[in-house]
Amino acid sequence: MDKKTFYISTPIYYPSDKLHIGHTYSTVAADTMARYKRFQGYDTFFLTGTDEHGQKIEDKAKNAGVTPKEYVDNIVLGIKDLWKLMNISYDKFIRTTDEYHEKAVQKIFKKMYDKGDIYKGHYEGLYCKPCESFWTETQAVDGKCPDCGRPVTKEREEAYFFKLSAYADKLAKYYDEHPGFIEPISRQNEMVNNFIKPGLQDLCVSRSSFKWGIPVPVNEDHVIYVWLDALTNYITALGYGSEDDTLYKKFWPVDVHLIGKDIIRFHMIYWPAFLMSIDEPLPEKVFAHGWVLIDGGKMSKSVGNVVDPVILAERYGVDALRYYLLREFTFGSDGSFSNENLINRINSDLANDLGNLVSRTVSMVEKYFGGTIPAEREAGEFDDDLKALALQTKGDAEKELDKFNYSIALTNIWKLVSRTNKYIDETAPWALAKDEANKARLAEVMYNLCECIRMVSVLIAPFMPYTADEIRKQIGVSAEFSWDESGVFGKEETYTVSKGGIIFPRIDLEKELAELEAAKAAANPVNPLKEEIQGVAKIGIEQFADVDLRVAKITECEPVKKAKKLLKLTLDDGTGDPRTVASGIAKWYKPEDLIGKSVILVSNLKPAVLCGVESCGMILAADAGEDDVKVIFVDGIPAGSKVR
Ligand code: MSP
Repeated sequence: MDKKTFYISTPIYYPSDKLHIGHTYSTVAADTMARYKRFQGYDTFFLTGTDEHGQKIEDKAKNAGVTPKEYVDNIVLGIKDLWKLMNISYDKFIRTTDEYHEKAVQKIFKKMYDKGDIYKGHYEGLYCKPCESFWTETQAVDGKCPDCGRPVTKEREEAYFFKLSAYADKLAKYYDEHPGFIEPISRQNEMVNNFIKPGLQDLCVSRSSFKWGIPVPVNEDHVIYVWLDALTNYITALGYGSEDDTLYKKFWPVDVHLIGKDIIRFHMIYWPAFLMSIDEPLPEKVFAHGWVLIDGGKMSKSVGNVVDPVILAERYGVDALRYYLLREFTFGSDGSFSNENLINRINSDLANDLGNLVSRTVSMVEKYFGGTIPAEREAGEFDDDLKALALQTKGDAEKELDKFNYSIALTNIWKLVSRTNKYIDETAPWALAKDEANKARLAEVMYNLCECIRMVSVLIAPFMPYTADEIRKQIGVSAEFSWDESGVFGKEETYTVSKGGIIFPRIDLEKELAELEAAKAAANPVNPLKEEIQGVAKIGIEQFADVDLRVAKITECEPVKKAKKLLKLTLDDGTGDPRTVASGIAKWYKPEDLIGKSVILVSNLKPAVLCGVESCGMILAADAGEDDVKVIFVDGIPAGSKVR
């Protein structure tokens, strides 16, 4: 019989900035599910990657003065490093700039075009660059993107359209016939009410006002819309549209696309419609998780509240961070991140509950039995109760994990951790140890503790792989195991333990919070000017050369009656003809301060009439704010000299 398969994907991330704790959350959740399925014996394919085309990336690269490919290459390396650090066990990392992907996307576009699902027209509407999404005037809210709240721009260009409208009924029917296609269900209802019911408009699937994308196969002046390019990664990564589509045949349709709630529309409407158009099966499930928020709001670079997973993983360990993310937040809902919550969670659940259980048990086995539990053992009070919960926990965890309820699954596992700790208090091994006659009973207690710890090590392995290994090392069991072993009590004959380091050291909350603040400040020195300057579009030297800068001498100067701010200057620009310039510097200079001074003139500025004065050019001044403007004087340099 063929091995059962499981295919899971994360969204492919925009390599436009460093990834933060929110992206890490998505990926850790997908990784945990992939590991869980692998342990269960599924032939698993876990896909992640980067979404590298589009206007946003093109602009960022331009600002950085590099090519888009150079720009993304660098960031992608950082993303891969982050996934390595977070112990993400992906099977494939797709980049939408990979050649096989680009070719396959062109084939997909052509297939839709040949079928008559794509046609040429004109796009006129609004565009949100950060989300790379199109909006109508009625959808935009006060000229802002309804998804992210940032300003949209008006776009008009020739474009290719996908006949999305033709798929509205088919999509609605599909949702009806496939309950569970989108989870949580509330998200599905939201989409149906907001998008399907008001009627679907055809979707613009090409852009011609910028170049950074996959060329449209039937018209190289256009590039393919970045979401059509991006969504298809889920099948091109498996070889769809290439010479070898073995993986596609094996794994498609995907078992689950894990995504954030902000990109449901693309996965619930566009993606299924695209698949219907190319006659391929639809995903089994799209699961939309909530957002990791800061103080109830979004993380944002400009606010400076972006949480860097690297700092946290390096301070507390990768597993502590993975645990926190999946335990603290209910997967389908938003949750608020705070350093304080994180540290409290680590202290209570990991250091106190799990860490103590392991270290107390290992220490006791060493102390009472020199490290190996004797074969002669005697059952007693509390054993059955402990065993009953231990045997039940696997099912309790599975039931929740199968529904992506990571947090409840962990809560159920921690019930066993707590119960086992309680068993130590109930059986009081230190009292048993006082009397040699209790040796067999003490051995049984130690054995039961080790068995529970072993079972817990399997149950937590998908969430905290390093910790599972470390615990197994300390209780002396094999690093190789299967998921089913978490449901067996009495698997090992005996245990030989060896004490290791403390798995989760307790953290001093106050001290740590102060240090984290300092680390954050050091990593993100607040310098709005830096952001402002970096945000200004770069220009080429040829653009700068278009500005003709000359030295000019002020020969006359007088106030402008109708405008308090203006001075009317007469300049000798070296041509012999006097030139008039109006300048808004009356607040800082009197006419007599200026006459006879040499200044820098923008000589080829188009003339403009300012309060009745025809101004032919502009003089340069440094502007340090309301009270501090200084004209740049270049006295002693002949009028007409070029400034470069
Ligand atoms: N490139 C698209 C996805 C294309 S998939 C075919 C994209 N990229 S993204 O980098 O902006 O976001 C990727 C994922 O990260 C999304 O699922 C988004 O919801 C998730 N997150 C971004 N910030 C987040 C939080 N603060 N919290 C949780 N997840 C969030 O969208």
